[in-house]
Amino acid sequence: MQARRPPPVAATPDAEHGARANPDAPPARNAPDAPDAYDAPAPRNLAEYEAAARAVLPGQVYDYFAGGADDETTLRWNREAYRRLLLRPRVLVDVSRVDTSVELFGERLALPVLLAPTAFQRLAHPDGELASARAAAAAGTLLVASTLATYPLEAIAGAAEGRLWLQLYVFRDRALTRELVERAERAGCRAICLTVTVPVQGNRERDARNAFRLPDGVEMANFAGLRQARFPSVTASGLDAFIAREFDPALTWEAVAWLRSITTLPVVLKGVTAAEDAVLAVEHGAAAIVVSNHGGRQLDGAEPTLWALPRVADAVAGRVPVLVDGGIRRGTDVLKALCLGARAVLIGRPYLWGLAVGGRAGVERVLALVRAELERALALMGRPTTSSLDRTAVSVAPALPAAEADGRVGWSANSNSVDLGDESARRPS
Ligand code: GLV
Repeated sequence: MQARRPPPVAATPDAEHGARANPDAPPARNAPDAPDAYDAPAPRNLAEYEAAARAVLPGQVYDYFAGGADDETTLRWNREAYRRLLLRPRVLVDVSRVDTSVELFGERLALPVLLAPTAFQRLAHPDGELASARAAAAAGTLLVASTLATYPLEAIAGAAEGRLWLQLYVFRDRALTRELVERAERAGCRAICLTVTVPVQGNRERDARNAFRLPDGVEMANFAGLRQARFPSVTASGLDAFIAREFDPALTWEAVAWLRSITTLPVVLKGVTAAEDAVLAVEHGAAAIVVSNHGGRQLDGAEPTLWALPRVADAVAGRVPVLVDGGIRRGTDVLKALCLGARAVLIGRPYLWGLAVGGRAGVERVLALVRAELERALALMGRPTTSSLDRTAVSVAPALPAAEADGRVGWSANSNSVDLGDESARRPS
């Protein structure tokens, strides 16, 4: 049995003002003035962070963050695809200086790893999105704050020191959506990241089983005082009911044009995996594309993002930067994604585990681990800069060794492989 602690929201502090929402409640173990939730030796890698977080999170919260749709096949494939891409190191290259930085929208990021939009971060730690924003800024990268954040966008922007994008869902209520975009501009967000993978909610059986809901004291803070701040009261997953009630299933490419007409910020389109959609995204003025299947949480059976990435990169042909998320757990995974054409990657669940275990410090440590792993991998690959990576640095294993498939649905020996094009492939965009 995993040790569980009570939901951290019992003593949710108002991190901006230092006051407790419930002054009579004992401090939660992971409140800022309490020791970190996890007292064992610090996890050494992102998988150990997940195990540590699982030990301290309420089961319903762990399931919500960790889970995927249906049989969670795509969730696993996202991960396994990285294991199937093999590295081809070069030797006798001067790697005394290694540079992990990348340029994105005219800005230098210290490492090509952004914090993906993830909802309801106060379920992981009382400081929620504020802690993640501070950690991202300290690491020289940025947070993509969720529309469904549990702190208001303006408070997150204050913590982010400008290193912030807003992730946007288009609600049935366009006026509400527009207001959020305008708030993002005023708060200094540097881009709007439109998520297009949720016309309807994926079938998340863990959340249905757990009747997933937000505890008292945690709400969708961007909509405080409005109906949209809370889930409808239902006996099944409250999030399911919320999305069915609020999100617009009739969304088309018109929404991208509409969004561009109401903001001067770059519009990043998140959720593209088909080459045809990548072309349409560029034609509709997307400033960047995120290859994403929503972390395996929407359409189960969707191909892993690492497979989709080179096709999208080819279709885009360098016209806009391509990013990717899903399954990235090691510095070598970041490197592989960059080889296949990503300018940068986003991690989601791993930093939530860091947040659950140690608040801001936990997120910083997760980013530091990925950075150290990436630096080492670049050196061992004989590719000392992110721009020195290309498709010649990887090859595709014919099949996952049986032991790696772990008895689960995996790759079959004759499944399609990633089409890497010819060996003299172009550099990533
Ligand atoms: C929210 O965006 C989710 O995928 O749960």
